[in-house]
Amino acid sequence: MPSKILCIFLFLLVPSSAAEDTFTFNGFRGGTNVSLDGVAYVNPDGLLLVTDAVRQTMGHAFYPAPLQFRSPRRGKILSFSSTFVFAMVSQYPEVNGCGLAFVVSATNNLSAALPNEYLGLFNKANNGNSRNRILAVELDNLQNMEFGDIDDNHVGIDINSLISVSARTASYYDGTTNQFKNLSLVSGQAMQVWVDYGGDDMILNVTISPVETAKPNQPLLSSVVDLSNVVSDSMYVGFASGTGAFFTSHCVLGWSFKMNGTAPALDYTKLPPVPQFKTGSRSRKLAIWLTVASTLFVLLVASGVVFLVRRRIKYAELLEDWEREYGPHRFSYKDLFKATSGFKDKELLGIGGFGRVYRGVLPTSNIEVAVKRVSHDSKQGMKEFVAEIVSIGQLRHRNIVRLLGYCRRKGELLLVYDYMPNGSLDKFLHEQSKPALTWAQRFCIIKGVASGLLYLHEDWEQVVIHRDIKASNVLLDSEMNGRLGDFGLARLYEHGSGPQTTHVVGTMGYIAPELGRTGKATTATDVFAYGAFLLEVACGRRPIESKSEQMVLVDWVLENWKKGSVLATCDPRLREEFSVAEMELVLKLGLLCSHPMPAARPGMRQVMQFLDGDAAFPELTPAHLNFSILSLLEKEGFDDYIMSFPSTMATMSAVSGAR
Ligand SMILES: *[C@@H]1O[C@H](CO)[C@@H](O)[C@H](O)[C@H]1NC(C)=O
Ligand SMILES: *[C@@H]1O[C@H](CO)[C@@H](O)[C@H](O)[C@H]1NC(C)=O
Ligand SMILES: *[C@@H]1O[C@H](CO)[C@@H](O)[C@H](O)[C@H]1NC(C)=O
Ligand SMILES: *[C@@H]1O[C@H](CO)[C@@H](O)[C@H](O)[C@H]1NC(C)=O
Ligand SMILES: *[C@@H]1O[C@H](CO)[C@@H](O)[C@H](O)[C@H]1NC(C)=O
Repeated sequence: MPSKILCIFLFLLVPSSAAEDTFTFNGFRGGTNVSLDGVAYVNPDGLLLVTDAVRQTMGHAFYPAPLQFRSPRRGKILSFSSTFVFAMVSQYPEVNGCGLAFVVSATNNLSAALPNEYLGLFNKANNGNSRNRILAVELDNLQNMEFGDIDDNHVGIDINSLISVSARTASYYDGTTNQFKNLSLVSGQAMQVWVDYGGDDMILNVTISPVETAKPNQPLLSSVVDLSNVVSDSMYVGFASGTGAFFTSHCVLGWSFKMNGTAPALDYTKLPPVPQFKTGSRSRKLAIWLTVASTLFVLLVASGVVFLVRRRIKYAELLEDWEREYGPHRFSYKDLFKATSGFKDKELLGIGGFGRVYRGVLPTSNIEVAVKRVSHDSKQGMKEFVAEIVSIGQLRHRNIVRLLGYCRRKGELLLVYDYMPNGSLDKFLHEQSKPALTWAQRFCIIKGVASGLLYLHEDWEQVVIHRDIKASNVLLDSEMNGRLGDFGLARLYEHGSGPQTTHVVGTMGYIAPELGRTGKATTATDVFAYGAFLLEVACGRRPIESKSEQMVLVDWVLENWKKGSVLATCDPRLREEFSVAEMELVLKLGLLCSHPMPAARPGMRQVMQFLDGDAAFPELTPAHLNFSILSLLEKEGFDDYIMSFPSTMATMSAVSGAR
């Protein structure tokens, strides 16, 4: 090559400003500053969702132009520094998606990578290959033994491979106590990460902390990392994320980067809000702000007037004309406020999928109640929903939690139930702090729930589909009888409009395959969920566990049944103290109810007869039970279901739940 051309060529390769590459994004409004692929998108608030609550998908977001990582003259690797604020929001706190990674990569085309534990970075074939030329800082929620992951909540430095060169449990250094404090990556809270690399000492530091706290003095990870075989002249920087079987959004709120210097600070006031599956830090900030504002207000305005105004705001309700007919079921907010001592934390019974539940004592009657606060904005569907809960409120059955009434405020619905002193079954099954239930208690609960469900399906004046049968929706009264609670709420969310399309109706592991496909809840989809519930109670395990690998309970019980070892699946906390006949019946019935073909599942009346011993349980054959729920879920397009959820919603309202 003639030397003149070479010179020009070199000149083109080496723009003089390259080493000053720096950028700051306080939110990604307009979405113009990052190039996206896969499922990644920027929402109207400017939040970058690298993956969004869809199963088995991946997404990438890169700074559009490659950056110069080596000094123009000597080819030395430059120092660089980056900081970003992220949040991982999972719909179900007990399970989580896979994770998010900050990436420095020779290519911005990672389309050949896999989701799940591969985090959208690598695939089975290229994991560990030095030609990948990828440096990643992983925020990983899955403990994968194959990759030597230390736990299911860690930060790691990865070079060309998911086997981290260095990793630690997510935690941050607290200068006041000189100790590291644990953080939960998937808590839904915003957190900040700093990635700093020193070109001279080759030390890569990774630091993490809750958002808006100062950068901790000590990094979480500090490792010598030789990037000489990783970093070429120009590299792309950005984010990659993969989701697994569960619905988790991996979001980036803000990001800055600087070559050969310290990344500019982010302006927290400009960052977009974290999506609200749970209450995030922003609403707390708002609450504090509101308190301050109202205090100032008190100081400024004559106190008498303020008293009246505040009182009115405090107890304000929404009451529309169509609600007049429900008069007797309507509670005043003031009464509920007083009953729960102003929704004090000490009255908090629990936080469920749909909202917080408080214990209370109604002022005049002294009846103990549980008050559930459901945040809900949508006008659409509210009228039908209230009509439905009022009609359900007329149901009376010893295995159904009685709904006493409701109250409505702006953006909020309050539901008043009978108080259940022993709380939810879920806790007894999965929390070691609670005593293990005996088999007699469990069998009684199983029968009770069956009886309540039979009543809803067949014995009341209209068919009621529960839609969200699961252990956490089974409450225990003072005599430890199981009672079904929370029905109808799933339906409220079916009607819900707007961006909450990720609210899947029902709960993973309890959702029948055909419900995923058609979006249509039927008595048979309730029976499927009841099947999952039976196995959960008998085995003391959740329908889907994601500790190391995703374990689908039905598949595991089924495998054991095929091997003739079905009794090996029962809950070890029972210490083998149970009736073998009853245990076998429950496990087999659980399998039968979990059959992927709706027609193969028994009806609730039959279930009741099997449990009461009034009908002989059919002989199950391997041919009859030749299925794997996991592969079905994967094959049958649960993703499609979620994606097309807005249209299935329309179908569902039209069909009105197969009433
Ligand atoms: C982001 O993109 C906009 C529009 O393309 C551009 O004006 C702005 O300078 C970019 N910001 C940064 C920090 O690169
Ligand atoms: C990097 O920064 C240092 C000090 O700020 C400066 O002396 C050096 O020239 C910079 N290197 C490049 C390649 O810009
Ligand atoms: C990205 O890589 C894949 C294969 O790895 C290739 O098929 C595809 O064409 C590439 N896309 C672009 C835009 O280069
Ligand atoms: C932090 O988490 C690790 C790993 O889960 C655990 O071993 C450790 O005890 C936790 N530390 C605290 C202070 O909770
Ligand atoms: C990394 O952390 C160590 C220990 O805190 C510190 O001495 C070093 O300067 C840091 N390096 C960079 C590039 O921030």
